[in-house]
Amino acid sequence: MSFDLSIRDALLFDGSGQPPRIADVHIEGDRIASIGSAPSGKREIAARGRALAPGFVDVHAHDDAALLSTPKLEFKLLQGVTSVVIGNCGFSLAPLLPGGAEPPGNASLFPGFAQRFSDLDEYRTAFDAACPALNAVSLVGHNAIRARVMGNDERPPTRDEMARMRGHVRCALEQGAAGFSTGLIYRPGRVATAAEIIELAQPLSEFGAIYATHMRSEGDRLLESVEETLGIARAVGCRAQISHHKAGGRRNWGKVKASLARVDAANQAGADVSLDVYPYIAGSGPMIEYFDPNQIDLGLAEIIQVASCPGCPAYEGRRLPEIAASEGLGLAELVSKILKLPGAERTVAITFMMNEEDVETNLRHPRVMVGSDGLPNPDGRPHPRLYGTFPRVLGEYGRRRGLFSLEAAIAKMSSLPCERFGLCDRGRIEVGAFADLLLFDPETIVDCATYADPKQHPTGIDLVLVNGAVAAEGGRTTDVRTGRLLRFKT
Ligand code: ZN
Ligand code: CU
Repeated sequence: MSFDLSIRDALLFDGSGQPPRIADVHIEGDRIASIGSAPSGKREIAARGRALAPGFVDVHAHDDAALLSTPKLEFKLLQGVTSVVIGNCGFSLAPLLPGGAEPPGNASLFPGFAQRFSDLDEYRTAFDAACPALNAVSLVGHNAIRARVMGNDERPPTRDEMARMRGHVRCALEQGAAGFSTGLIYRPGRVATAAEIIELAQPLSEFGAIYATHMRSEGDRLLESVEETLGIARAVGCRAQISHHKAGGRRNWGKVKASLARVDAANQAGADVSLDVYPYIAGSGPMIEYFDPNQIDLGLAEIIQVASCPGCPAYEGRRLPEIAASEGLGLAELVSKILKLPGAERTVAITFMMNEEDVETNLRHPRVMVGSDGLPNPDGRPHPRLYGTFPRVLGEYGRRRGLFSLEAAIAKMSSLPCERFGLCDRGRIEVGAFADLLLFDPETIVDCATYADPKQHPTGIDLVLVNGAVAAEGGRTTDVRTGRLLRFKT
């Protein structure tokens, strides 16, 4: 028989972490139908000298709104990403009511996007109507749930509120969510105790779903926060994911070693914890969430570059100390000014808070996956991770620095995340699996996005397939959009 598409003589990395072999891969409909010799397919692709890998999974994405508003998602697809995990850091678009209370961070996470969804099924309806270019699986966010049930009150929930919030977690899991996420530095979730999280996360154990957390501290109290996470996972009896694992702030550099050792020890003792990281030394997030206007942290202001600033686009792409000098303002004065500009709730900061050694230590660790944490925003100069994360892991950290073999890097970005987040029949190249694939040049693949010029697509990727359809070719999207909102473990 002749298949829809045959990819010939590719250097096949099957996602298992085993060394590659030369093979032909044949696709029929949305799945891999055969591996090996077969007569000419309806379309033939000569892939000699190119690597064929399972599509990458971005385990830490904030594309919840972008999947609906810019469904081509070029910035993600052109990195070879075929599935994203959304609903991270406690922020999801469901369950929220239009016009209802919501976490202040939503303004910069989902800029210019007005729709809200009462539950995941409602989000699914919108997703299906938008036909995004890639697959997604959702977590349900604690900040969203708390805002839905309690508004932005920073107080403990009543018994009744607790029960209603837990009901939202359960409902999301019934509707296919992969887990429950927290963002314990953000409003309103930051006031929650571990006891609250444990109570809300109860349904996870029954579904085998995952607890993903932006921990309470990623700096001075990193190790205490890891303990808290391990304690929550143990009490609930669930798997856990430590999001964008890092040691922020010079005095904390190096702590990731102790943190990873603690996770290793817990895993040996029966826990089931994994982590993710983005391959950059700067983080990024909503500026209003990082500063107490009454007590401006100057050390933090020193290391910030403005990503987007609707109140003063001229600041975008510039460091705060440089802006302060050029305007003749003190640093604290400048921060106060920015926090009061119109649209300040949408101002996004890039924070240079890590060191390279920690990023490498993280990337090398076998339980650490890759999550971009990219904040999609059509305006401003976003953190380059939005456009560059996955090719950067291969080109910079793999090929140039030699941190890992290509097969190990591919497994870290395909099969491992699919196992952890319950994406069935994906993340491997094998007969019967969904044909989420990318074809690339292992000698040249690299990110091109920089802090100065972040909206640059990577080079070296020839082809991206999503559910068997050619979604990108020669560095351009085809606008054949075949993504699906996946259900956990189905
Ligand atoms: Zn986060
Ligand atoms: Cu995040």
